[in-house]
Amino acid sequence: MTRLVPGFLWGAATAPHQVEGNNLNSDWWQRELHTPGMERSGDAVDSYHRYAEDMRLLADAGLTSYRFGIEWARIEPIPGQISRAALAHYSRMIDTAFQLGLTPVVTLHHFTSPRWFAEDGGWLGPKAIERFQAYVKTAAAILGDVEWVCTMNEPNMLAIMVWMSDPERSAAVRKQMLTPTVADDRFPILPDPEPEVGLRLAEAHHAAAEILRRETDAKVGWTVANQAFTATVGNEDKLREVRYIKEDLYLEAARGDDFIGVQSYSSQAVDGNGVVPHPPAPDNTLTGAAYRPDALGIALRHAWEATGGVPILVTENGIATADDTRRIAYTSEALGHLFKAVDDGIDVRGYLHWSALDNFEWGHWKPTFGLIAVDRETFERKPKPSLAWLGAVARRGRL
Ligand code: FCB
Repeated sequence: MTRLVPGFLWGAATAPHQVEGNNLNSDWWQRELHTPGMERSGDAVDSYHRYAEDMRLLADAGLTSYRFGIEWARIEPIPGQISRAALAHYSRMIDTAFQLGLTPVVTLHHFTSPRWFAEDGGWLGPKAIERFQAYVKTAAAILGDVEWVCTMNEPNMLAIMVWMSDPERSAAVRKQMLTPTVADDRFPILPDPEPEVGLRLAEAHHAAAEILRRETDAKVGWTVANQAFTATVGNEDKLREVRYIKEDLYLEAARGDDFIGVQSYSSQAVDGNGVVPHPPAPDNTLTGAAYRPDALGIALRHAWEATGGVPILVTENGIATADDTRRIAYTSEALGHLFKAVDDGIDVRGYLHWSALDNFEWGHWKPTFGLIAVDRETFERKPKPSLAWLGAVARRGRL
């Protein structure tokens, strides 16, 4: 039997903008208002007010951890002006998690920035690093007992999002990118992350980690979108080239961190021309990705190698499906691959499923990833069988 580390985290994850609702001061809220064809987050699933109920459902099911984010746009709605009320809110969330026996894993930046930050040039703006540092320093004040902090979520996706906000880029390719995570016929494969942005994000991450190490006892890392790329015959060099730009730059920046957050959903081949689009198939998920529960095993092994053996926390893994039996089948198989990786000596510290709740999937509502369904008018929560199933796996510590 696989020997998991004592205290292995079994949990589920969310991101503030996707569940809280009315994130009015964020760049994404503006994007939703001004991008034709994009669905809006609106009230999302009102987790800003219902977080205690959400956490209780996870804890009651048997999970031991909850990954959630704190929202910079709420904490610092105007440059330099801190909302004590917003900070107190997130501090209560952390307390609630502990009271319920859930180890909080806190993300400081999950795709969204304050509107003012974006309007001042975003991550390439002249004061970007210093402003992020100031925010992280403010946040550190409420992170006292938190053991796991992710500075930033999927910088390799964030570095693609310049395609969504820069009208000149859209004009050059005569198409506007509407979402980074859901298949779009206009972008059969995602554009490359902008290396200039990626390097800036790595700098911001290192600056944030330094502050957090000084001011908290937390383990600090960032999370990467692991795409489990594989080479078609003879294309190993192309694989390395593609993977560096899209993923390894970010994994290598995690060397020396306390952990790396692995986030895995599907796998894609690389041929002589680059990434091969997901072929249309009846079992593709609601985001258009291939059904590939084995991706997690590929991702774990690659992250371990590319970071030179940094301990791994699976910070996201899941499937967009309306059929909850598929979610259980997918997750069960993915966990089988995780256990094999552990058997082979890879240091995995926990598994956090994406997502706790059906939520706003960055411009779309249809792809449902949740262990819990939500009525979007009454906000009533309905746990799906997959939640009880994952909770039982957590209690037993095996499949
Ligand atoms: C990841 C994001 C997360 C969610 C899942 C489906 O790329 O981190 O917010 O969108 O994909």
